[in-house]
Amino acid sequence: MVGTGFAGGSHVEALRRVPGVEVAALAGSSDERARAAAGRLGVPAAAGDYRTLLADASIDAVHNCTPNDLHHEVTSAALEAGKHVLAEKPLAMDAAETADLVGRAERAGTVTGVCFNYRHYPLVAEARAMLADGRAGRPHLIRGAYLQDWLLDAADWNWRLQSERSGASRAIGDIGSHWMDLLQHVTGGRIARVYARLGRLHEERLRPAGPSQTFDRGGGADAERVAVDTEDFATVLFELDGGCPGVFTVSQVTPGKRNGLTFEIDAGAVSLAWDQEHPNALRIGRRDRPNEVLVRDPALLSPSAAALAHYPAGHEEGWPDGLKNLFLDFYAAVDAHGSGAPHESSVATFADAHRITCAVEAILESHREGRWVEVGAGG
Ligand SMILES: NC(=O)c1ccc[n+]([C@@H]2O[C@H](COP(=O)([O-])OP(=O)(O)OC[C@H]3O[C@@H](n4cnc5c(N)ncnc54)[C@H](O)[C@@H]3O)[C@@H](O)[C@H]2O)c1
Repeated sequence: MVGTGFAGGSHVEALRRVPGVEVAALAGSSDERARAAAGRLGVPAAAGDYRTLLADASIDAVHNCTPNDLHHEVTSAALEAGKHVLAEKPLAMDAAETADLVGRAERAGTVTGVCFNYRHYPLVAEARAMLADGRAGRPHLIRGAYLQDWLLDAADWNWRLQSERSGASRAIGDIGSHWMDLLQHVTGGRIARVYARLGRLHEERLRPAGPSQTFDRGGGADAERVAVDTEDFATVLFELDGGCPGVFTVSQVTPGKRNGLTFEIDAGAVSLAWDQEHPNALRIGRRDRPNEVLVRDPALLSPSAAALAHYPAGHEEGWPDGLKNLFLDFYAAVDAHGSGAPHESSVATFADAHRITCAVEAILESHREGRWVEVGAGG
């Protein structure tokens, strides 16, 4: 595990529930921080330099949970060392870097994947199955949002507020990327063109003197006032290839929304609505019959969705379970890679994540130029 913050900690916890996987070691930004995290998370070995882990032949796979500006470097080095790599999103800082990693992954020939974890919820899989097998019809109109409030105050601080660490886009790159990947996964379509407006609640923020972790509250008497150059929120009109129109809103400054990822897909005779904060229900809207709320019940779901539900109905599963499902899938692919057995994976590929970074860049260009922009191949 490289990176020991919010993502690294949640990966370690979820991996404990994946049979056959042992978290051998973690790397942090210093020996001291890595040792402290290893103690906290119960991991046997720790290093201040991730290259120590890469030199260890007994380590098969690397999870890259570092801040975005380290993604390309750490993932490249792990591939070079012949490791399987599960990379946190976004895959890298820009489309040139993500295109480069697609090529490196192909050449390495190991198993690779990207942590677009919202794909791996049972009722997301059910919506995908209903669209794929024709039960839901063809999408004709799409709405959605990804709304949070953890950066609402000017005193809230995180490395994501520094574009040199996070990338040229913040709200879209950080969470809009999840929404776009999820929507493309569920519909099987691709966002082909975008028209976007970006905005900021705060032109300046207060940067604390000491280190801060994701979701920490900022401020402090010695905080420094710094200019912000990335967006707090955005609205995006889009069209899928094939022409289906849609719109989504992204924000990290919406009071009361903690992790409000939602989609609504109008598809012929039904609409499908899902909300990450109530992940065990899929609302199926109908005109000529009462609407339905399908609850997560392995006995009532399609096989692909039931496979992601590990507890009976009423025994709620959520965010940590989606992450576990992703890792079950990824490590089944690692096993299949070793044995030569077939494995069909739902984990986002490096190529999928590269395409998302191209969409993020198209959104930035649309905002700058005030026009529709085609999502290119990038790189
Ligand atoms: N898929 C998801 O839902 C999800 C959720 C949160 C974060 N993320 C992604 O995970 C990544 C990390 O985000 P976070 O919220 O955990 O950030 P964080 O600030 O909580 O943690 C980052 C960690 O990286 C460590 N680090 C910094 N430099 C390092 C180095 N040179 N070597 C090793 N470790 C180093 C820091 O010490 C820290 O522990 C980001 O790319 C983010 O987009 C994804």
